Amino acid sequence: MSRYWRLEGAGQCLVLGAAAGQMPRVVYWRDPLPEEEDLATLDLMAARDVTGGMLDAHPPLSLCPEAGRAFPGQPGLLLRDAGGRALHPRFAFEAAEEEATGLRLVSRDAALGLEHVAEIALDPVTGMLTLRARLRSEAPVILEWFAAPVLPGLAEAREMLDFSGRWIGEFQPCRSPWGPGIRMRESRTGRSGHEHFPALLVHAPGANNGAGRVQGFHLGWSGGHRMVAEELPDGRRQVQFGMAAGLEAMPGTEFETPPLYAVQSGAGFNGVARTFQRHLRDRVVTWPGAALPRPVHYNCWEAVYFDHRLEELKEIASRAADLGAERFVLDDGWFGRRDDDRRALGDWQVDARKYPEGLGPLIDHVEGLGMQFGLWLEPEMVNPESDLYRAHPEWVLGPADQVTGRQQLVLDMGREAVRDHLFDVISALLEAHPIGYIKWDHNRLLPHPDAAQARGTYALLDRLRAAFPEVEIESCASGGGRIDFGILERTQRVWLSDSNDALERLRMQHEAALFLPAAVTGSHVGPRRSHTSGRVQEMSFRAWVAAQRHLGFEMDPRELTEAEAQTLRSVTGWWKANRHWLWGADILRLDSDDPALLAELQLAEDGSRFVLFAGQAAASAQSVPRCLRLSGLVPEARYRVTLRNGAEAPALSRGEMALKEGPLVASGAALMQQGIALPWSFPERIWVLEGERE
Ligand code: GLA
Repeated sequence: MSRYWRLEGAGQCLVLGAAAGQMPRVVYWRDPLPEEEDLATLDLMAARDVTGGMLDAHPPLSLCPEAGRAFPGQPGLLLRDAGGRALHPRFAFEAAEEEATGLRLVSRDAALGLEHVAEIALDPVTGMLTLRARLRSEAPVILEWFAAPVLPGLAEAREMLDFSGRWIGEFQPCRSPWGPGIRMRESRTGRSGHEHFPALLVHAPGANNGAGRVQGFHLGWSGGHRMVAEELPDGRRQVQFGMAAGLEAMPGTEFETPPLYAVQSGAGFNGVARTFQRHLRDRVVTWPGAALPRPVHYNCWEAVYFDHRLEELKEIASRAADLGAERFVLDDGWFGRRDDDRRALGDWQVDARKYPEGLGPLIDHVEGLGMQFGLWLEPEMVNPESDLYRAHPEWVLGPADQVTGRQQLVLDMGREAVRDHLFDVISALLEAHPIGYIKWDHNRLLPHPDAAQARGTYALLDRLRAAFPEVEIESCASGGGRIDFGILERTQRVWLSDSNDALERLRMQHEAALFLPAAVTGSHVGPRRSHTSGRVQEMSFRAWVAAQRHLGFEMDPRELTEAEAQTLRSVTGWWKANRHWLWGADILRLDSDDPALLAELQLAEDGSRFVLFAGQAAASAQSVPRCLRLSGLVPEARYRVTLRNGAEAPALSRGEMALKEGPLVASGAALMQQGIALPWSFPERIWVLEGERE
């Protein structure tokens, strides 16, 4: 006799079932079904035949595929007893607790003294599934691998999409075919990492941004993950996510996986992106009371690097405020004897050589300009050349003779003494000064992966957030090396990349929008000549690309011509006038027929307005732009569409075009089906179109 459960709402339907003596498994995960659908029949309909060369029944693809049931693929749990003997669990369903929006399913392996609990919640508004597994053992066990509740991979998919990356090159899409066997990605560097963003998109053939079935998965964990996407010999597919293998150093009796966020949609990549963006912004991030509106940033890193001079910084701050900045972030270089990146991490005392009267005079100046003050810290790190290291060499994680990274070592965040020390020094800074913002950096890879390290960092962040609830924190790790929903439970912004090159940002922002809303995605207007690519880009392009997300500036404002400053002031003014609705907007990626054009539409929550950004990333193959089809509009509604920056059209755009003449009014249907032709453009330019529902 089987039992069934059904979680349904916000476009999702997840049906689970458990046969007698077995562990629950996912029966169905797609769009909602008619209310009266018989779940037993649904299950039986999909029961598979048996043929030669296989067992006489299919081992279940349970929520934790079990090694003890001859499962023909990667098990969801690999563990050993304290003596090192491999255990092969066989769980049987024991109890269920059902709540309005969630389910707790308990299974037990009585012989091995193991209990597995799967917690599955469906958010009734965002449609996000959050899945987590817990393991309890009567005797201490050594945990090698433990997957969050396992979901089936989309049967019709031929490809999957995940992301790799590197410093100044985050969010590079990787497409791979489904086929027999495993695609595994594992981040073993102790961070969610540039290299393997902890997410996967599985999509039906032909799925695009606006149509087709897509499944999205993301693990909310900062300490390194493993993903397994596997096709079994019988054709079934499974997707597993958990912490990287072997991350739990110690034998134990209780373990839990990080939360796995999952959503499926028949409405293309935007269908899942919408859910990830909304859920992150509205459920995962905890915003301080004063978080709105998002302030325009100024960050001094690419202006002065380690060369801090009070009078210069004051002048820079004044100019930044004049351009429209509302928060001034003092980056690396203010503490210890930090004249370069070889020393002083760990010595979080203000450098009296650079700031003889402390930070007070600079902060007073910044506040006098009406800006909030923010400070850069890299708390988990220490340079061998530092007072902290000399006092506590034993606080370092890993062997004494390990290879350093950026000349630095990592503190062992699993130690209470380390966390207490960091809490004390950071608290002292926050108490002594009106600091509203911390840029929290993490610039090296760990000497070995270790779950206790990430948990220790979370504990410190949680303690600081509780003590200073109004202080916002940005997650930076050489740019986008620690971006995940785990760190974002404790922070409010991510530094997507150390590349301020607007062309590269345009692309990264486009990809990252599959998961991240504008509200958390920092984007800065960089120097005229990019410090990381050497490209020279016009102010308008730099400014509008930064205005696609949480806007900031990071160049030396003294380099700006008056014309550049005017352009930047004007774009910043636009951003400020619109940020109240941009905050809650959905970013919808547009399916451009021209690979040289990267376009998105940000649609207000109430559908009353939108802004469209169409970035010309390269010269097009064809002579003039094709029509660009919009997305997310109401077909019957009428929209007034205005080209915001038509004055930037180069002389080579010489046709008469409706959009250049003035606003166009058309139905949502026409805008979405036929689309609008854009004026011809130089590469590295961006068109900005504003739309209002009439
Ligand atoms: C990292 C960050 C940069 C900057 C430097 C300071 O590289 O990603 O934005 O803060 O550290 O050293």
